[in-house]
Amino acid sequence: MVSATFYFPKGFLWGTATAAYQVEGNNTNSQWWEWEQQPGNILHDHKSGLACDWWSGRWREDLDRAVESHQNAHRISIEWSRIQPAPNRWDESAIDHYREIMRGMVERGLTPMVTLHHFSDPIWLSESGSWENDLIPNYFEKFVGKVVDALKEYVSSWVTINEPNVLLTFAYVLGQFPPGKKDLRNAIRVATNMINSHAAAYHLIHKIQPQAQVGIATNYRGFVPAKPWFPPDVWVARLQSRLFNDLFPVALRDGVLRFPVTVKRIPQAKNTQDFLGIDYYTCDRVSFNLFKVGEMFGRRFYPPDADLSDNGFIANEPEGLFTALKWALQFKKPIIITENGVEDSDDHLRPRYLLQHIHQLWRGVNFTWPVKGYFHWTLVDNFEWERGWTQRFGLWELDTETQARRKRPSADLYAQICRENCISSDMVSQYAPEIYAQMFPE
Ligand code: BGC
Repeated sequence: MVSATFYFPKGFLWGTATAAYQVEGNNTNSQWWEWEQQPGNILHDHKSGLACDWWSGRWREDLDRAVESHQNAHRISIEWSRIQPAPNRWDESAIDHYREIMRGMVERGLTPMVTLHHFSDPIWLSESGSWENDLIPNYFEKFVGKVVDALKEYVSSWVTINEPNVLLTFAYVLGQFPPGKKDLRNAIRVATNMINSHAAAYHLIHKIQPQAQVGIATNYRGFVPAKPWFPPDVWVARLQSRLFNDLFPVALRDGVLRFPVTVKRIPQAKNTQDFLGIDYYTCDRVSFNLFKVGEMFGRRFYPPDADLSDNGFIANEPEGLFTALKWALQFKKPIIITENGVEDSDDHLRPRYLLQHIHQLWRGVNFTWPVKGYFHWTLVDNFEWERGWTQRFGLWELDTETQARRKRPSADLYAQICRENCISSDMVSQYAPEIYAQMFPE
């Protein structure tokens, strides 16, 4: 049997990623809290409730879990609605609370990466139009200044906006996130405001902390032509990728927002990413369909033989991660995988998903591509937005009734990967023997 070990560079960041609204609990000042109360918005009308109860202090035990599993970094987010519950009020005790968490991370040997906006807005902001309001760059800049000033002692790695492409699509085009809008024309305004907000935050953070590393996390989705020999499929897959994957990173490189029929110059956004954050989960097959106008002429689907997650939400497509890395090279910046993971309550799929994706990551590293870290989504099962509690992405399982945590086998596997800074054929034979022959062919 062929055996091998694939090492990562010294100092590689290994961690998990979380988001405030999904783990803290009782975020009653967020627009998501209101959205949850309206029947039909969340699957089975689930409520975030206490979530993982981090705000009451369970962040400590969960970050201890991260440390016990040899992680050396953690991506966390800050809840704007806690820091600024009203337009003219800063909650200093919430700021102190976050300082304590950041100190807790540093003391545990976890390098913090902080996301400043992860889908959740204060209610007062949503009442004034959130991302449709042209004043949002000013509001965001003030909030960011307050946070960065308070946390700069512990943090120098910042994600301004998590997945602006997902936020734009789900909140303003598909209507599945608050405010539930379905208006493609309005999307240009929203995207412009997001870019302006990022740019304002980028410049301010660098003023406060010149050594800061600032970026966004882009959700990179693979779009593979269903029939690679059929030009319309190839064309539509490219179009979808350009709209979903390229829109924001290109705007932040060039200072130009390119929509299908509109081009907008935003010069202050030019060269405002210090690293490329990539959230990668899966790939679609795309076939050209003239009647899918709203979906940009593409029918998207998973192939019939796809290795699917519990709810069919994610197809295990590890090579898409390699494609994402290759795509990211065009920006000539360090690359960080800011999220990657799968919903899998009984952990039958996660071990191979994890090994196969990290294998693809290693392929990039082996070409000396500038990949600096990997954050698994996620540490403990959390509230999955419009899908409520139906999807379980945690290395640890959460019982929402009792708040008890139970370790899944993948947590042990990930701990070995983090500790040894590699993946090895031994790990594959122990945790995912079914892919051994494919990963290590004779
Ligand atoms: C989001 C996370 C989410 C994850 C899995 C990502 O798009 O950033 O907040 O929980 O997907 O659904």
